[in-house]
Amino acid sequence: MDGIQFCLNGTEVIYEGSAADRLLDVLRDTYRMTSVKCGCKEGECGACSVLMDGILVNSCCVAMGAVDGSDITTLEGFRQTERFEVLSNAFGEVSAVQCGFCIPGMVLAAEALLRKTPHPTEEEIRTGLSGNLCRCTGYNSIVNAINNAAKEGNGLW
Ligand code: FES
Ligand code: FES
Repeated sequence: MDGIQFCLNGTEVIYEGSAADRLLDVLRDTYRMTSVKCGCKEGECGACSVLMDGILVNSCCVAMGAVDGSDITTLEGFRQTERFEVLSNAFGEVSAVQCGFCIPGMVLAAEALLRKTPHPTEEEIRTGLSGNLCRCTGYNSIVNAINNAAKEGNGLW
């Protein structure tokens, strides 16, 4: 194989390492995408969430061999969008960020949810976030932030 070719935040890259390497490690160590956090490395916490072809995945559970030809978005890429601005403001307005460790994954989970369901119910928001753990906020403020973002960003998703 002549390297693993994929699109990272809009830029074509070729990874020359092993197909068995974890996407999480490659994003952090090779491409310096430090928004991608390492929590459990077992698919349980969602801290390592990224979008793969628009779908939310735990990057600790994705081998590089599966990334060939795909489109990977981390928070570094998503933050260039207007939708990020809406979500970021909404999180700030209701103080939904405490230590911040879970937030990149939460924001990408919100993006994936709102892409699929632009006007979610509270239950749909909670289900959309069910793979992302937060040790600090108790979730209510994050749910409120996403609910507000869905209203304020009407038409963006
Ligand atoms: S580090 Fe990947 S799910 Fe926890
Ligand atoms: S804000 Fe601290 S883990 Fe969520």
